Amino acid sequence: MLDLALAVFHHLLIFTLFGVLVVELMLVRPGMDAAAVRRAVGVDALYGLAAVLILAVGFGRAAMTAKGWDYYVHNGFFWAKIATFALIGLLSAPPTLLFIKARRAGAALSDAEVRKVRGLVQAELALFPLLLIFAAAMARGYGSF
Ligand code: HEM
Repeated sequence: MLDLALAVFHHLLIFTLFGVLVVELMLVRPGMDAAAVRRAVGVDALYGLAAVLILAVGFGRAAMTAKGWDYYVHNGFFWAKIATFALIGLLSAPPTLLFIKARRAGAALSDAEVRKVRGLVQAELALFPLLLIFAAAMARGYGSF
């Protein structure tokens, strides 16, 4: 039952994270004002929460349910998935810092900052399908060593 609950939660969180990234991309546009920056800070916080919960649920699944920790530690696709997830997390850091800096100053983002944030969010979205590919391969025993 715990396995089913965590699997369902895992997928719901994944959709949430993807949705939040798309919303962020729609929100961050040239000419965004201080109010849009405040909204972006809220959306970004939701992104952070979803990412932390995915980590907790994902490691919960790997350690306590599914096939057991030993199976995943010896699977290359598991580590590829974790590395990709970490890379996406790193790419999300500069936008978060820019949003917070702009909100503190009560200012809007400059067009150059908007371009930077959009590029980073697009890169995160582009990497996302890799997570699904690695997850499916790992669940089926490909890449085991
Ligand atoms: C946004 C990030 C993530 C995405 C998109 C994702 C995607 C998926 C998908 C689609 C599956 C189902 C695979 C299948 O049954 O065919 C899955 C399973 C799983 N994921 Fe994730 N995942 C993410 C993050 C994580 C993290 C951080 C962990 C941490 C260890 C993790 C651990 C697991 C485990 C243990 C399974 C069960 C695999 C099995 O049935 O053997 N996931 N993931």
